[in-house]
Amino acid sequence: MVPVALLSAFSILGLATAQNTTIRYMPFGDSITEIICWRALLWEKLQTTEWASVNFVGSGKTENNCKDAKYDRDNEGHSGFLAIDIATKNQLDGWLKTNPADVLTMHLGTNDIVQQNKNVADIIAAFTRLVGTARTHNPKMKIVVAQIIPMGMGSYNTKIQQLNAQIPPWAAGLNKTESPIWVVDQYTGFSGSADLRDGVHPNAGGDKKMMDVWYPALLQAFAAAKADQGTSTAVNFIA
Ligand SMILES: *[C@@H]1O[C@H](CO)[C@@H](O)[C@H](O)[C@H]1NC(C)=O
Ligand SMILES: *[C@@H]1O[C@H](CO)[C@@H](O)[C@H](O)[C@H]1NC(C)=O
Repeated sequence: MVPVALLSAFSILGLATAQNTTIRYMPFGDSITEIICWRALLWEKLQTTEWASVNFVGSGKTENNCKDAKYDRDNEGHSGFLAIDIATKNQLDGWLKTNPADVLTMHLGTNDIVQQNKNVADIIAAFTRLVGTARTHNPKMKIVVAQIIPMGMGSYNTKIQQLNAQIPPWAAGLNKTESPIWVVDQYTGFSGSADLRDGVHPNAGGDKKMMDVWYPALLQAFAAAKADQGTSTAVNFIA
């Protein structure tokens, strides 16, 4: 027999866990995740929702002239980095060790194509490794992967479109019930001339477009992460 006092102590613990639904979200990528303002717009939009307490996580905290003093700047965007290098050097492993996450967005591949003209198949193989790393840290990681934005220099966009075309079937092949991958299309409707400030990075209009594309997928991801917390509370309760 479990003493009544102990039972109620467990109940209180269970309740406290249930109410504490702090979800950790890591924006992961290159400069198009680091030195942009879509994260600020996203954070602001979340403040009016049930997801206001979502904690953005990551080692980067630089201000980007977004004219927003309040937003949670934490991110794992690394300017100039290639997906292939991040995977080969196993860098995501260390980043997630320092800043565990429940939800991850990934916008990568631009530098692989623009800087080093890497093969699409090798970029996709790097994505596979990165998803594997994310799931090693959190088997229930909710992952949102972008089909990446176009560049202002049109010659790169052929290969960018080849990469983007590979992403949905790749993601479907790695999809898991407990760790879904949602693909969002950041390419379609994004103008390589009107929505970029420098041929590479979004201007204010581009930031707004990117935020609008991430947003519905992130709401799904946050809801799925929250549902997991409900499950783990039940497990704690039984234990
Ligand atoms: C939830 O957890 C976070 C991080 O551990 C903590 O800062 C916060 O105070 C907790 N909130 C509640 C309502 O217990
Ligand atoms: C992965 O599964 C989820 C449902 O769990 C679904 O919403 C999503 O579209 C799937 N992703 C892909 C790339 O098929």
